[in-house]
Amino acid sequence: VNWQDDAKRAAALSAVTHVKDGCIVGLGSGTTIAYALKEIGRRIREQHLKILGVPTSYQALLLAVKHHIPLSTLDEHPRLDMALDGADQVDGKLDMIKGMGGALTREKIVASASRLNIIIIDETKLASKLGVNQPVPVEVMPFAASWVEAKLRKLSGKPVLREAARKLGPVVTDNGNFIFDVDFGSITRPQELNMQLKELPGVIETGLFVQMADVVYVGGKTGVRTLKRP
Ligand code: 5RP
Repeated sequence: VNWQDDAKRAAALSAVTHVKDGCIVGLGSGTTIAYALKEIGRRIREQHLKILGVPTSYQALLLAVKHHIPLSTLDEHPRLDMALDGADQVDGKLDMIKGMGGALTREKIVASASRLNIIIIDETKLASKLGVNQPVPVEVMPFAASWVEAKLRKLSGKPVLREAARKLGPVVTDNGNFIFDVDFGSITRPQELNMQLKELPGVIETGLFVQMADVVYVGGKTGVRTLKRP
């Protein structure tokens, strides 16, 4: 286990202290959140907490089942007490790039439905500017992929269709779509870029999460720090 795994786990354990008896919790996706789901499962088992989870992906759903976290849906609970999730890059305003795990669309919906958004990262995810050495994942309807790809280039992006690892061809998301990982270089106005991308018919969602994180738990080599949105 390297320091990053320890840091992710420590940050996840701190973040899970927000989860109280009776909470309805959005369950994010990724390797970091996996530690949080295990801890929620432990607390349900040992402290007999009544928690309901709304998963953001098949990964989160299967982990929740594994850790015996009872599940619900946004149909039953359109308003959640909180969401716990990871991120790929976080800047000083707590704006984020998410979606390297491919779950960005459901993650953004669940985050929007949550009163409190808690993000868990290790300190390698912190950046002074979004977009530096980090592409923006954009989920696109397959029917529109080539058209959207051309438009992404017009917006000065360099899109790469995400390829599957153990299947031929592109990644197909939990929603049946493709993902372009788009290098925009340093992003000065993330909200504006997000709006420009979302205006393109065929774009389902972007990995730019602007003014969504309320608190970020950052695991580092020397302990866990907490950042709050200014
Ligand atoms: C998935 C995400 C994840 O939260 C993000 O990719 C971080 O994952 P990890 O904790 O494995 O680094 O946005 O779509």
